[in-house]
Amino acid sequence: QAVGDPMILEPRPWSTKLGYPVAFKPYGQPSPFEANLQRRQSPGLTQTTQASVSFAPLQGFFGIITPSGLHFERHHQGWVDVDPEQHRLMVNGMVEEAKVYTMDDLMRLPSVSRIHFIECGANTGMEWGNAAVPTVQYTHGMLSCCEFTGVPLKVLLDDCGADIKNAQFVLAEGNDGSSMTRTISMEAALDDVLVAWGMNGEMLRPENGYPLRLVVPGVQGVSWVKWLRRIEVGDKPWNSKDEASHYVDMMPDGIHRQYTSIQECKSVITSPSGGQALMGKGFYNVSGLAWSGRGKIKQVDVSFDAGRNWKTARLETPVLDKCLTRFNIDWVWDGSPVILQSRATDSTGFVQPRYRQLREVRGTRSTYHNNAIQSWQVAQSGEVFNVQMD
Ligand code: MTE
Repeated sequence: QAVGDPMILEPRPWSTKLGYPVAFKPYGQPSPFEANLQRRQSPGLTQTTQASVSFAPLQGFFGIITPSGLHFERHHQGWVDVDPEQHRLMVNGMVEEAKVYTMDDLMRLPSVSRIHFIECGANTGMEWGNAAVPTVQYTHGMLSCCEFTGVPLKVLLDDCGADIKNAQFVLAEGNDGSSMTRTISMEAALDDVLVAWGMNGEMLRPENGYPLRLVVPGVQGVSWVKWLRRIEVGDKPWNSKDEASHYVDMMPDGIHRQYTSIQECKSVITSPSGGQALMGKGFYNVSGLAWSGRGKIKQVDVSFDAGRNWKTARLETPVLDKCLTRFNIDWVWDGSPVILQSRATDSTGFVQPRYRQLREVRGTRSTYHNNAIQSWQVAQSGEVFNVQMD
């Protein structure tokens, strides 16, 4: 309402006085009016708040970068404040010379910065049987995407003379109470794995592994070991507690599948999404995120009629390897109830499955690696609900 709007006609309080001085907040904070945008726990999901997860508010993000303070968290034994002066990284096992690096030693080495997504293997895990949680924050919020800076693991393996002819694996070990350990293939270790200290241009946040974490592009979050203290080179998988009883896929025959680490092609519409409400008929920019642990996103299609017809969305640049890709598509809502879906295709040609297709292979009793097409129902009232379509 431009005519007679007091917000235009009358000066606002902030335009009639001196503002705050520079460096009033030496480390900047979001506007107090954005206080509702927070990472959140899912009530009742875990028995303790240390062995738990907080979900990133995907519905409130633009572009592809997750603000550091809103990166999701997943800890097995709480997060810790590690003193970088006391932190060490050891590389041992099948190497010519085992070495111990300080943070200063590591940060002198040639570093690279790359943007990658991290997704917990359990993301969307509550939805295997039925639509269970109301918002995209809870269905897909164990997902973040940042620019990570660090030294390629290959540089350290070369430095220690790793026996890369005979050793096929490395073990990464964390320095928190959970002593998280994960086996990583030598192929990945020599390819794009980073020993990282930087996140979005600053040091890692404590919750995300300060001062050192492993970045394993395309692979489930559990392998991105935080507070990284040791890399062991070996010739067989370690079958540690974190890979024998956790992060295994229950298949329909009751047998667990182990070491399925790649996060397959997936997408979700973040706006509009569950828990939001449309402001009446008319134009909307439908927007969302797509990603694949196997490469780049090639195409995203959006359906406005529960998957009967599909339209190709616009991909925002940059479109990077093993990275979130933002998609947008124009939509004019006529006010009638609809079901919105997005379907991503990656550079290998893999097409994100419908629930029916995924369940045919995987059943319904799994927790991990659910990459099915998400459906949002827009009711006549404009309210948006999480529903599941076959
Ligand atoms: N590393 C250690 N040392 N301890 C942990 O509990 N959690 C893992 C992984 N690395 C974990 C860890 C899991 S299950 C995930 S999904 C990611 O860290 C989450 O990383 P984030 O907390 O930075 O989002």
